[in-house]
Amino acid sequence: MKVAVLGAAGGIGQALALLLKTQLPAGSKLSLYDIAPVTPGVAVDLSHIPTAVDVKGFAGEDPTPALEGADVVLISAGVARKPGMDRSDLFNINAGIVRNLIEKVASTCPKALVGIITNPVNTTVAIAAEVLKKAGVYDKNRLFGVTTLDVIRSETFIAEAKGVDVEQVKINVIGGHSGVTILPLLSQVEGVSFSDEEVANLTTRIQNAGTEVVEAKAGGGSATLSMGQAACRFGMSLVKGLQGESGVIECAYVDGGSEHAEFFAQPVLLGKNGVEEVLAYGDVSEFEANARDAMLDTLKGDIKLGVEFVG
Ligand SMILES: NC(=O)c1ccc[n+]([C@@H]2O[C@H](COP(=O)([O-])OP(=O)(O)OC[C@H]3O[C@@H](n4cnc5c(N)ncnc54)[C@H](O)[C@@H]3O)[C@@H](O)[C@H]2O)c1
Repeated sequence: MKVAVLGAAGGIGQALALLLKTQLPAGSKLSLYDIAPVTPGVAVDLSHIPTAVDVKGFAGEDPTPALEGADVVLISAGVARKPGMDRSDLFNINAGIVRNLIEKVASTCPKALVGIITNPVNTTVAIAAEVLKKAGVYDKNRLFGVTTLDVIRSETFIAEAKGVDVEQVKINVIGGHSGVTILPLLSQVEGVSFSDEEVANLTTRIQNAGTEVVEAKAGGGSATLSMGQAACRFGMSLVKGLQGESGVIECAYVDGGSEHAEFFAQPVLLGKNGVEEVLAYGDVSEFEANARDAMLDTLKGDIKLGVEFVG
């Protein structure tokens, strides 16, 4: 297995690289790329950790050497939010970065599974799909918007609110990855029940959790450590699927034939070709059905922005 992290010198990239160095199967290769000159040094630093994962770092303008032979590519390259910004404020800078990197993915490792972390995910995934289509290598089963942070936040906040073991909490988070497009299906969580007020408060907290971190970091960036953990969980699930492990399921923002929008986050079964099957997200409460329907204009607008950007 070769996993490439693009944006590897950043807050998310370094946390993710550390976790992958300690969790990838023995014999794997970890390839780090960032425009920042420190990147080969990050790789040297990680290489002193005693695991059988080979780490190489690449800096400069061209990601090609880092991408050669990659099975999985995780992209967190870009700028992060500062207080007062929402994810769409990042569009102008990050859209071009994702477009350029995906062009290199298309020419260097078109069969790789690609996970996009760079915000605004609702839009950057649509950009990636358009670039891959133009290059004639688009496979909808191999492109993912990483929404796992919404899932792990939901698990944590539910366990806190209900005093249950966080290891036992499982939840689907559907829709997209910003504001009202993040919809945790609290009604499906087994073993706990919520009042209407709790549902409203918890849903809002999960939707705004990124802003909680942005404000607490007071200008120093957005979620990096929890996002590193989320991206590692998702990346490891992609690897497990590629290796033929059965029953690997994650929620992700995919082009999965959803009746709601061209891209929609929902549970997917992962396998040797990426998405093996897009799974139904199950029954929803009236509150959730209303929230899902109410988000669709926003989500479709975010997707359209990405499609038009590539043109
Ligand atoms: N999907 C999610 O849930 C989620 C959560 C948090 C943050 N994010 C997003 O992830 C991105 C990265 O966040 P961060 O906190 O790590 O930011 P950061 O500023 O710490 O790191 C970003 C890195 O990208 C690099 N970079 C910039 N342009 C590049 C290019 N063209 N090629 C390669 N590398 C390039 C920078 O040098 C930097 O090292 C942001 O867009 C942020 O909004 C997503």
